[in-house]
Amino acid sequence: TTRTLILGIETSCDETAAAVIARDGAGRGDILSNVVLSQLREHAPYGGVVPEIAARAHVTHLDRLVAQAMRESGLDYKDLDAVAATAGPGLLGGVIVGLTMAKAIAFAHGRPLMAVNHLEGHALTARLLHPVEFPYLLLLISGGHTQFQMVEGVGKYHRLGTTIDDALGEAFDKVAKLLGLGYPGGPQVEALARRGDASRFAFPRPLKGRKDCNFSFSGLKTAVRETVQDLMTLSDQDVADVCASFEAAVAETMADRLKMAVHLFRAAHPQVRAPALIVAGGVAANQKLKAVFEAAAAQHGLQLIVPPAKLCTDNAAMIAWAGAERLALGLTDPLDFAARARWPL
Ligand code: KG4
Ligand code: ZN
Repeated sequence: TTRTLILGIETSCDETAAAVIARDGAGRGDILSNVVLSQLREHAPYGGVVPEIAARAHVTHLDRLVAQAMRESGLDYKDLDAVAATAGPGLLGGVIVGLTMAKAIAFAHGRPLMAVNHLEGHALTARLLHPVEFPYLLLLISGGHTQFQMVEGVGKYHRLGTTIDDALGEAFDKVAKLLGLGYPGGPQVEALARRGDASRFAFPRPLKGRKDCNFSFSGLKTAVRETVQDLMTLSDQDVADVCASFEAAVAETMADRLKMAVHLFRAAHPQVRAPALIVAGGVAANQKLKAVFEAAAAQHGLQLIVPPAKLCTDNAAMIAWAGAERLALGLTDPLDFAARARWPL
């Protein structure tokens, strides 16, 4: 059995990240280093990620982060078997920074380049920590993505549903902004919702009952905006009640969409008795939603896996891991691989 060592780089959004992982011949993963620098403070004044600021910050910090990840791993560049970087989808300026760095290291040390789809990183992360068998159901809920994937193997993904407008994390962030809360809004909405009355406002449950497993959050956001406008001045209790009512609408919607996704998954793979349900992305940190996933897993006979937040939110270990999984299949990429702003799995 051969052990492969991979350096990974992630720069597709507002996290500059580098990591070194190992994969043994049996497919088990090991994180040797995993450093992430969040640009939250740079973007916070704008209430969202500013692409130009992100790209410049990646340029400023990436050299140092890669050096740190290598140092913490105790390895030398010549020990690496490949260099992986996110090649998309994401903010193009940032993706180019990380991908170019990976190309330079790969070229200088004569190692293969792994141009990784960021979503594939999220899709495969659970296997870095657990011996999860294919096929499994993945729910990815972050600031940029909201989708169900049926993961049938490395490179074999089947999207069951996606958002037709906003991503779920984006909806949390927009609601927070409407309420005058800071960015990112998800954690603050969750904290305030705990002291709120979830039954005070009857917000819509978007797409509930529809026979697919797509998502839509812009109508919900609009309903929140109209409520906020009607209230005119917001007391602390009003804010808490809006947060709680919004979170309740999201939770009920997720339970319904999940039911449909499980139905589609079961129809495609009737022989799989207890498939894994993997929930990844920043929104997976939400406890109210976690309770929904736990209940759904129990009800539908799924094995729920929520990887630790550090591997669920954007990081480079997941990119290195996806690179390792692909390298194990003999898949490498040419050094002229171009960055892609859009790249569905
Ligand atoms: O995966 P992530 O760190 O970054 C990407 O978007 O790729 O996800 C960030 C998103 C933000 O929209 C943030 O508001 C949301 O995840 N989020 C939450 C919570 N923690 C983070 N949303 C709801 N509840 C939370 N506890
Ligand atoms: Zn991501």
